Amino acid sequence: MAIVELAEALRSANRVCVLTGAGMSAESGVPTFRDAQTGLWAKYDPLELATPEAFAANPERVWDWYQYRRELVLRADPNDGHRALAELAGLVSDLTIVTQNVDGLHRRAGSTNVVEFHGNLFVDRCFRSGSVVEGMQPGPLPHCPGCGAPIRPGVVWFGEAIPEDALDRAFAAAGGCDAFVSIGTAAEVYPAAGLIDRARRNNAVVAEINPQLTGTAAGGIEIAATAVEALVPLVNRLRAPRTLN
Ligand code: OAD
Repeated sequence: MAIVELAEALRSANRVCVLTGAGMSAESGVPTFRDAQTGLWAKYDPLELATPEAFAANPERVWDWYQYRRELVLRADPNDGHRALAELAGLVSDLTIVTQNVDGLHRRAGSTNVVEFHGNLFVDRCFRSGSVVEGMQPGPLPHCPGCGAPIRPGVVWFGEAIPEDALDRAFAAAGGCDAFVSIGTAAEVYPAAGLIDRARRNNAVVAEINPQLTGTAAGGIEIAATAVEALVPLVNRLRAPRTLN
């Protein structure tokens, strides 16, 4: 059974890297991007909402959309899958979670070694300088107290570079791990999806947890289940003392 196989791979790994995507938070009620019907990109055009050009053209519209997403996430709670991953840190020898999610739910569930590869919805930055600006109030588009430029959400948009620190930490974790688990990502957006190839080149065991498997772990361990369905029994198994059989 694939969960047993993954538990064994995690037990014997010196370093583990987990990559999460929007599917990780789906069971918290946060919509994914690419699922047909329910995904955000089925309803909205990413080019009009998730690029620096879109923000420059209509900052209020983009800001309001991110405000809507913030509110949605504030109403959501980490799910049992997030909590299982937080517990996993104490059950394997060295765990790094790289998340493409900007919702902060891994940290709210208690995970500490988290690389927020695409930034965080709750960080505000000056659109001109990129500096983090504290103390902005929820509501209509605010402006930078220093220079008057509009404030933007601290997420990474299409066409923007991943912050260097996040990129370095993520590729070091993927390139140095013995077991790599991809959870709830369509693995279509680079460079995040490139982490899987990096781990494979390092001969890591590669696993995927996704109700609609993408094939990125073909030849490795494939678990066709939701994050909660897979991670809860996985962690239960790792928590249980080893038996002889
Ligand atoms: P996607 O929406 O592209 O993919 C979500 C994946 O989660 C799909 O493969 C689903 O099958 C899977 N899924 C759905 N429900 C699940 C569940 N309950 N448990 C596990 N898996 C489930 O989201 P990402 O791959 O995260 O970037 O998208 C990557 C990036 O593209 C995002 O960070 C965002 C987006 O556009 C930006 O906004 C820059």
